[in-house]
Amino acid sequence: MSDIISGLDARMVLDSRGNPTVEVDCYVGGVLFGRSIVPSGASTGAHEAIELRDGNMNRWLGRGVEDAIDNVLEPIQEALIGMPVDDQKAIDEIMIELDGTPNKANLGANAMLGVSMACLHAGAALHELPLWRYIGGVAGGQMPVPMLNILNGGAHAASNVDVQEFMVMPHGFDTFPEALRAGVECYHALKQELKTDGLLGGVGDEGGFAPNLPTNETGLKYMVRAIEGAGYSTDEIGIALDVASTEFFSEDRYHIDGKDLTGEELSDIYATWVDEYPLLSIEDGFGEDDWRSWSHCMRDIGDKVQLVGDDLFVTQAERLAMGIESKAANAILVKVNQVGTITETLETMELANSHGFNSVVSHRSGETEDTTIADLAVGTRAGQIKTGAPARSDRVAKYNQLLRISSEVSEYRSPF
Ligand code: PGA
Ligand code: ZN
Repeated sequence: MSDIISGLDARMVLDSRGNPTVEVDCYVGGVLFGRSIVPSGASTGAHEAIELRDGNMNRWLGRGVEDAIDNVLEPIQEALIGMPVDDQKAIDEIMIELDGTPNKANLGANAMLGVSMACLHAGAALHELPLWRYIGGVAGGQMPVPMLNILNGGAHAASNVDVQEFMVMPHGFDTFPEALRAGVECYHALKQELKTDGLLGGVGDEGGFAPNLPTNETGLKYMVRAIEGAGYSTDEIGIALDVASTEFFSEDRYHIDGKDLTGEELSDIYATWVDEYPLLSIEDGFGEDDWRSWSHCMRDIGDKVQLVGDDLFVTQAERLAMGIESKAANAILVKVNQVGTITETLETMELANSHGFNSVVSHRSGETEDTTIADLAVGTRAGQIKTGAPARSDRVAKYNQLLRISSEVSEYRSPF
């Protein structure tokens, strides 16, 4: 059987916010072998690889992806036809060279990632392996601890809450399905708690409830009520936050809860929260270039809490190396479209792993039915995945894929 890429196809499809995105098909020996759809962020980091948008304001509010699709159909396809589909590294390197920019501005990270993931799926299909096993190889897979974003704020909600994500982290369970069940029950319990207080309204972009709250700390109190309301203890289910603080950082101050705080003052607040709540993980507690505050916080509470760099590292090995050097964090968020290829994603995760950093595989706020990240989390043995609330099919699709995989992979170990 041929293992050679015989062609690519690409088209526009919609993401969970009704924005255009790129779908890519990879053909091997004239047969469709792999398909992927590219996700898209809202609180995007300044250092992320470039997502190519047409900018024609008469169509899709400027968010069209026709140029990215043309790049798949023309230069990328031309360069990749004839390549062995299971040589992921060579495929990605050819695209990186063809693009020729440090941030994928030429071909677009959305075009490149679509191809990279479609080829990954095609390689797995060629070898008749489930995707997680194709990624994991002989090391096999490990189920991740799910982080469910049940209360949405920040750029993902119309509420007054600054913190973007309040997640439950069911770490004290023996299997992935049991952990997921506990997390989902907290979601339902939170709904009940908010209803009791007359705060139940719509949901945010990642499916979590999005109430207006008097303070950000009130969100933590509701998380504890959700955990206990679902009949669990805070010893077995903790809280993770994505503060996404770059969104409210300007002129060297963090504008949160109506105050203008220095990085050190904000770090002190996190220290208090870590003492008073079952808070296990804080993502993007500081701005994407505020390395000083990150390192300060690490020195202060880095031994008590996971400090995750998302906008700080943007899944890029170069920025992660800076963070390792300056001891700015102890974990990295992994988003495939921040860097634009599977090979670079795996390299970054390898670097993290070799320096004792935890990895959290992550969705974007703009998602689709594509479930590649579920297999990626298992195959790389990342240990943690965040993929939204157990609501809306774009989020649930990942949890459902993890449930499918869990019938083959029983290994499950919490990093906490
Ligand atoms: P984004 O949000 O996909 O809108 O960037 C997710 C995150 O910040 O982790
Ligand atoms: Zn984030």
